[in-house]
Amino acid sequence: MKLFVDTGQVEEVRQAAEWGIIDGVTTNPSLIAKAGRGFKETVLAMCEILPHGSISAEVVGTTVPDILKEAREIASWAPNIVVKVPMTPAGIQATRQLRQEGIRVNMTLVFSPAQALLAAKAGATYISVFVGRVDDIASEGMRTIEEVVQMVDAYGFESEVLVASIRHPMHVVEAMRMGAHIATMPFKVLEQLFHHPLTDIGLQRFLEDWNKAGLRIFDNPA
Ligand code: E4P
Repeated sequence: MKLFVDTGQVEEVRQAAEWGIIDGVTTNPSLIAKAGRGFKETVLAMCEILPHGSISAEVVGTTVPDILKEAREIASWAPNIVVKVPMTPAGIQATRQLRQEGIRVNMTLVFSPAQALLAAKAGATYISVFVGRVDDIASEGMRTIEEVVQMVDAYGFESEVLVASIRHPMHVVEAMRMGAHIATMPFKVLEQLFHHPLTDIGLQRFLEDWNKAGLRIFDNPA
């Protein structure tokens, strides 16, 4: 399963990239606005940090001509950009056209298997299914992931299912159990994935035992 970080902060991408376990980044207009830097400079900095990763950057146009114009511009900035397009009739129509032009699309704001089917048929590279926002309204976001993964597998669509709007580590674990292709998460959730109290306790004990016995690895410590 690929792990993406969902952020507008270049420094978070840099840290995640140093750990070497990140396959890409997703941004959205809200995250870019919150980060407080220019859109193009932010996306290009991320592309440079992860040259072999996939960087999703979103259009803000809502008509077919506007979406196409913005998507072509954003895609021209770097080869590893995937353009995020909203799940609307105009977004679907634009996705079909962009696909023919070789521009990869991450279809965003997908909340139902029906919407995911349309995204897959339009040729979206990624289908971003939001889970946290559904949980927020007392429904089951992960249930949709299960159905969308089944749909993509059953019909052999090339689209990858991207679990978005992740709120906590269990969303990542459930995405893995369901066979989703990608999970994108806030940097904070990525950090949380590292932690287990028994790891901390275990490491502390190993080091105490080692030090008590006066053992060493190097014959001539520097
Ligand atoms: C996905 O690509 C979106 O940027 C993101 O996951 C939205 O998450 P939110 O519901 O926490 O805003």
